[in-house]
Amino acid sequence: MADHPSIVILTGAGVSAESGIATFRGPGGLWEGHRVEDVCTPEALARDPALVHRFYDLRRAALDGVQPNAAHRALARLDAAWPGELLLVTQNVDDLHERAGSTRLLHMHGKLRSALCARCGARAAWAGALPPGTACAACEAVALRPDIVFFGEMPYGIDAIEAALARADLFVSIGTSGAVYPAAGFVRTARHHGAATLELNLDPSDGSIWFDESRMGPAGVLVPAWVDELLSRAQA
Ligand code: APR
Repeated sequence: MADHPSIVILTGAGVSAESGIATFRGPGGLWEGHRVEDVCTPEALARDPALVHRFYDLRRAALDGVQPNAAHRALARLDAAWPGELLLVTQNVDDLHERAGSTRLLHMHGKLRSALCARCGARAAWAGALPPGTACAACEAVALRPDIVFFGEMPYGIDAIEAALARADLFVSIGTSGAVYPAAGFVRTARHHGAATLELNLDPSDGSIWFDESRMGPAGVLVPAWVDELLSRAQA
């Protein structure tokens, strides 16, 4: 492996669980209260925009009450210290990685604190509620929607992610069930290109079989330990 291997990290809802943000597919998970097709599809947005906007308004408002945890902070420390290539791809739509200080970051499923114009594609930072019928400041169309990738829509940044996976020496997956593609397939792409693969998760996931190594436990414990291990090895 190169002096400073090129690293791609994928995070899912499990990295934010210890900050108090519900995951999707566990007891009390976000999908427990709603059917995906009712709040996270283009059809749902067309059928009942008020319900969809309200679902994301509630999740956006919940961000005010949570803080990055030790896992987010350790990943930001790695981002600042790592001299080699590093890309943190998150499936999460919260802003905890940014708030912890990560900069080499890509939100492949969108962001709660962003609004997207369905007409012109312009984005606007958004903090409060986003009522249906809000006009876009760029094109004035009444077409602002949550900047969230719905099921059936193309995730953001796939070309950049695939290119990073092709160059990766190390792929690390943190806090994801490996239930949703294309993210669930990244480990196989990384392996195909010769990367070493590591999973840090509370429980075995759908993708665990594809990893060279899987460490089970809370991200708040496993991620700082892994970052310390990586940085001390790089300085050796
Ligand atoms: N530390 C580490 N892992 C944890 C923790 C924790 N404290 N708590 C839960 N986990 C793990 C669970 O074991 C599970 O494997 O996090 C994973 C969460 O899985 P999901 O709830 O399915 O969330 P995620 O994998 O991010 O879902 C992927 O599905 O619904 C879509 O767009 C949504 O981005 C989401 C995507």
